[in-house]
Amino acid sequence: MIIALTFSMSLSLSLSLSLSELMLSVHSVDLLSSKTGQNRMEHHTDCYHGNALIIRRGQTFQIELDLSRPFNSNTDKLHLDLRTGPLPMVSKNTHVIIQLVEELEDDRWEAKIVERNGNRIKLSVNSHAKAVIGKYKLTVTVESPKGGSATTRDPRKDIVMLFNPWCEDDTVYMDDEEEKKEYVLNDTGRLYYGTEKQIGDRTWNYGQFLEGMLEACLYVLEKSEIPPPGRGDPVNVVRVISAMINSQDDNGVLAGNWSGNYVGGVSPTAWNGSVEILRKYHKEGGLPVKYGQCWVFSGVTTTVLRCLGIPCRSVTNFQSAHDTDVSLTTDMYFDEKMEPFDELNTDSVWNFHVWNDCWMARPDLPPGNGGWQALDATPQETSQGTFRCGPASVTAIRTGQVYLKYDTPFIFAEVNSDKIYWQRNLDGIFTQIQCEKKAVGHCISTKAVGSDKRDDITHLYKHTEGSEEERIAVETASRYGTKPDVYSTSMAEDVSLEVKLEGEGPRMGADAQLTIVITNFSSQTRKTTLHIQVAVMYYTGVLKGTVKKDKMPVALKPNEGYYQDQLVDQAALMLTLSGRVSETQQVLATQTSFRLRTPDLSIEDVPIPSFVNSMVNKSRLKLNFKQCRDTFVL
Ligand SMILES: *[C@@H]1O[C@H](CO)[C@@H](O)[C@H](O)[C@H]1NC(C)=O
Ligand SMILES: *[C@@H]1O[C@H](CO)[C@@H](O)[C@H](O)[C@H]1NC(C)=O
Ligand SMILES: *[C@@H]1O[C@H](CO)[C@@H](O)[C@H](O)[C@H]1NC(C)=O
Ligand SMILES: *[C@@H]1O[C@H](CO)[C@@H](O)[C@H](O)[C@H]1NC(C)=O
Ligand SMILES: *[C@@H]1O[C@H](CO)[C@@H](O)[C@H](O)[C@H]1NC(C)=O
Repeated sequence: MIIALTFSMSLSLSLSLSLSELMLSVHSVDLLSSKTGQNRMEHHTDCYHGNALIIRRGQTFQIELDLSRPFNSNTDKLHLDLRTGPLPMVSKNTHVIIQLVEELEDDRWEAKIVERNGNRIKLSVNSHAKAVIGKYKLTVTVESPKGGSATTRDPRKDIVMLFNPWCEDDTVYMDDEEEKKEYVLNDTGRLYYGTEKQIGDRTWNYGQFLEGMLEACLYVLEKSEIPPPGRGDPVNVVRVISAMINSQDDNGVLAGNWSGNYVGGVSPTAWNGSVEILRKYHKEGGLPVKYGQCWVFSGVTTTVLRCLGIPCRSVTNFQSAHDTDVSLTTDMYFDEKMEPFDELNTDSVWNFHVWNDCWMARPDLPPGNGGWQALDATPQETSQGTFRCGPASVTAIRTGQVYLKYDTPFIFAEVNSDKIYWQRNLDGIFTQIQCEKKAVGHCISTKAVGSDKRDDITHLYKHTEGSEEERIAVETASRYGTKPDVYSTSMAEDVSLEVKLEGEGPRMGADAQLTIVITNFSSQTRKTTLHIQVAVMYYTGVLKGTVKKDKMPVALKPNEGYYQDQLVDQAALMLTLSGRVSETQQVLATQTSFRLRTPDLSIEDVPIPSFVNSMVNKSRLKLNFKQCRDTFVL
């Protein structure tokens, strides 16, 4: 039975009791939370205002306990309780019980005594890399054999837990130090606007570490529909933040206004940062702040996510399409006389639009889709009934895999839709009269890492305009839209593409052999060019870099083989193949992820990730392309 006692020691104890038999109680808890102390330095939280204990999950922190007498590890017991949210529950990970252990292990909530000094002990506490983020209350419970148990709560401060891009087990892990400095720790940045011919920029004060900002950002999270147990998953958190930054549906942070009349509020162009907006929102108890437009929504989103510890940046797309009917095309309708059909012309192309990229693994998607995720807080279209958008994998956008959640079709259309012109015939049917393939999605821009220059990241969102890979992405995407027949579909689907791993898959120190099998089910010659890309991937599904990019014409003469070997980095690899059959226009595409069981390799073009430096083994990846006579194996 647990009896909670007050701190005041009962002194009516018999003097014959030895010291260790005296009742044990906690006099005080020191969270060692000073701004320049070890905890906050090691957790990269020294930049936050104030002296609360702000820590990142998946990493140890220290606390000191002042006890009524020295702690006896043989007979005394001690555990910590951390609770978050209104209804803390162990089963929901909102109440964690931390036991003392001899040695700390990764990925567990555990504590260990690291120092003893008279009545004081210092604990090193480890948190789980998937811990719920937010404010926790700490309780310390001690029990001694004779004295029963006593509980104390640190009355002064909460512990704030944040995401941890420095922790490899956290899904927001980002390995590059300079990138973390920029995308998590930099509190100012540049936003781009204007037109692609005249790109303007302005400085934006993100201010995520200033007084009141952490509280305001946690307040935004608390006001959202996401209950505390969901606050450990960054996919959930960013999705809900994209809904909360606009005022629609949920009295979120900013009211949008594009009318040109901003009486009673601040003109969207007058803001120079996020701080005033978030402070006002928090102070006024969740009243939407007037007014925002896309760059304001994006700037505030960057502030909130960086503040919570998710790497994030604001991104501007020029010639940004707004697809209102999920056709994945931008459609312009004309009547018989080529007069625009105003009531049908709801799709539009904006000079520019600003949204966000945030960085995380996507365990909810097939491998290869981790890394940058597009997120758009500007209220444009509803997603599952709410004004929110994303996170959509930027890799999925580039390859046209718009069926991968969330809201990938919408963002795909913004950057890579074709502008299709339709004319109504006399019989009332619309026919396609022109298709502009390069009208949308130019000069996608963000502030460069470590400088005030503009970084063009268009290549992350789409393959080179006009390349076959880009066309394949557009056609793949459009098949999942509301107008799947816009693009001339293939005349026949008589070729199949498949990748096979030889044997049990690549072995330690052995070559990896993958066989690409293209089978021809027709009675005629089939030709295609395969685009081959091999990329290194972390086990989390985040692509690290491209190892090999190649094009392979497959003109099929019997018994002609194609062979290639290539050194590649360790970890998992992702092979992407795409191509089009010349005779039928059939699109071929497949992705295979595989692992070399050997620890390592090296390759000239690709920087070796820091975590493989200690490894020496090498393996080769062999792509085997063989060809047979009837069904040809390449
Ligand atoms: C924009 O602001 C003006 C002036 O306050 C207001 O009359 C108008 O209703 C606002 N528009 C929206 C969409 O809130
Ligand atoms: C931003 O605007 C506020 C007032 O709205 C002003 O006090 C501040 O100096 C401005 N900052 C910059 C960098 O212009
Ligand atoms: C943010 O980036 C700018 C430009 O790269 C740099 O001058 C500034 O020092 C950075 N700030 C921080 C806090 O890293
Ligand atoms: C494709 O397969 C058919 C039979 O299935 C065969 O007649 C034809 O020659 C094959 N084409 C090539 C290029 O191998
Ligand atoms: C590969 O690594 C294993 C152990 O990790 C080691 O025993 C072996 O000698 C290494 N092979 C080479 C070629 O370095």
